[in-house]
Amino acid sequence: MRALFTVCKRLSEKALVGPSPTLSWVPRRPRSVGGIPACNPSARRLVFSPSSEVLEKLRGHVEVRENFISEEEERALLRELEPGLKKKRYEFDHWDDAIHGYRETERLRWGPECQAILERLRSAAFPQGSQQLGPVHVLDLDQKGYIKAHIDSVKFCGSTIAGVSLLSDSVMRLVSEDNVEHWADLLLLRRSLYIIRDRARYKFTHEVLKDEDSFFLGERIPRDRRISVICRNLPA
Ligand code: OGA
Ligand code: MN
Repeated sequence: MRALFTVCKRLSEKALVGPSPTLSWVPRRPRSVGGIPACNPSARRLVFSPSSEVLEKLRGHVEVRENFISEEEERALLRELEPGLKKKRYEFDHWDDAIHGYRETERLRWGPECQAILERLRSAAFPQGSQQLGPVHVLDLDQKGYIKAHIDSVKFCGSTIAGVSLLSDSVMRLVSEDNVEHWADLLLLRRSLYIIRDRARYKFTHEVLKDEDSFFLGERIPRDRRISVICRNLPA
């Protein structure tokens, strides 16, 4: 399975030329892209792009939900994942890998509490009855780890990728395959859920920024060790 997620990742060289992470242009009206209710101006903005065209393109294709799991649920996931992860070493040396400073696993069977969380995640992210990848992908990024711009293999993964972030806040950047100036940042707070589907999944690369580049709307978002629990569907 590891080969599935590492070898099949396609790095996009052009997307590695990143935009300035400190741009702080804010649209006048809050938009609902990313699941932020437009009617609630106090809700924290979780999706940002300096381009309203990009926001429009991503509308409905990107969602970020704050506090998708509780602290207790985060602890339950960690209890189940830590023993297996601790046996592995972080990998730093493969310069051509899409991911730097990581260890990973996949898990098919979960205890009841975690199973319930995953069912909630899946029903939030995937249309009812859609065929999903059975094993859940668990990616543990070291504090110094990061994920370079890539598009998940279209051969092995379907239209939707959904992940919950544990232990640390982080910033995920989407960059258009057609125009590197078309980008958006997602603020992935600890315990939030992100969903990238369709256009955001196929036409934009995604990456998770390294600690020193980790800014959202000009605000520093320190990156610590981060574990993501990722569900995907199967290609149609
Ligand atoms: C991946 C990936 C994102 C994350 O493993 O392909 O993009 O949230 N992971 O860890
Ligand atoms: Mn990916």
